[in-house]
Amino acid sequence: MRILSGIQPSGRLHIGNYFGMMRPMIGYQERGDLFAFIVNFHAMTSLQEAERLSRQTLEAATDFLALGLDPERATFYVQSDIPEVCELDWILGCVAPVGLLERSHAYKDKVAKGLTASVGLFSYPVLMAADILLYQADLVPVGEDQRQHLEIARDLAIKFNNTYGETFTVPEAEVKEITVPGTDGRKMSKSYGNTIDIFSDEKTLKQQVMGIVTDSLPLETPKNPDESNLFAIYKLFATADETAELADNLRRGGVKYSVLKKELISRISAQFEPHRARREELAANPGKVREILAYGAEKARKVALPTLQLVRERVGVRY
Ligand code: ADP
Ligand code: TRP
Repeated sequence: MRILSGIQPSGRLHIGNYFGMMRPMIGYQERGDLFAFIVNFHAMTSLQEAERLSRQTLEAATDFLALGLDPERATFYVQSDIPEVCELDWILGCVAPVGLLERSHAYKDKVAKGLTASVGLFSYPVLMAADILLYQADLVPVGEDQRQHLEIARDLAIKFNNTYGETFTVPEAEVKEITVPGTDGRKMSKSYGNTIDIFSDEKTLKQQVMGIVTDSLPLETPKNPDESNLFAIYKLFATADETAELADNLRRGGVKYSVLKKELISRISAQFEPHRARREELAANPGKVREILAYGAEKARKVALPTLQLVRERVGVRY
């Protein structure tokens, strides 16, 4: 079974990305033939600073590798290293009804938030469909926010197959329900500035955790763990028994938030500590990371080219 997913290099990766997407993805290495990639073309729809895009692409790859993505077992690459995806994007664009894209929530939300309504942003789901169909993926794990994009990819695969004959595997979505809250209680997101980063220095980690918003009720007042943002984050780093015990203690009252936050800092440090040395080693040797990505691109291309050849045959781009 081919499992495929991509991540945008749009900023420093945080623990929301880790629990929602990177850890499950790394886990898929055990389950099937994993294709994992950094979608730098997609990131251009919201990021138009060349230096940042370039640096963040390499950083995202470095983080993934440090956290355990194995470039031998998985196919790990950067989207733009297989430019054929743009050719498929065009071809799929010619079967994609404008109305289908106009219904995209992500597009409408981004424009409402002030992003320029570029053609690229509008056709974002078509390029995403090309990312998936080019590699004939069976299963695509994504966050809830990507559910509709997956529906569009399925619709385009079915429409293409109906028009030109069986060509693409129709991918299934595996929607991850987990949403990690940020330090202010909203969804943790780079764009809200409420993140706890995976690989930050001690001082930044301390600032971020100490900044988790808590209530200002008296110490002894019983607290509802389900309403505590600190509890929601803490439990990601605790066992089931520890979580149950903390929930009891909160309900009883008397838990000092500052003590809990200090404990959380040391747990977050400990969780990522085993990966820190590898992170530093790779960060000091970007040539090595580029080499790994080139190797991944070569593997990805072996799958992409035959698909594209078939597509060209089917649509008549030949003479
Ligand atoms: P951000 O909101 O920080 O820009 P992205 O949109 O780039 O993050 O998300 C990359 C991946 O990480 C997606 O698969 C998304 O579902 C997942 N993800 C992002 N934030 C969270 C979160 N707070 N909780 C769980 N998963 C998340
Ligand atoms: N749109 C996805 C996101 O923002 C990233 C993405 C691009 C993707 N192409 C993909 C995810 C293909 C899965 C499969 O999270």
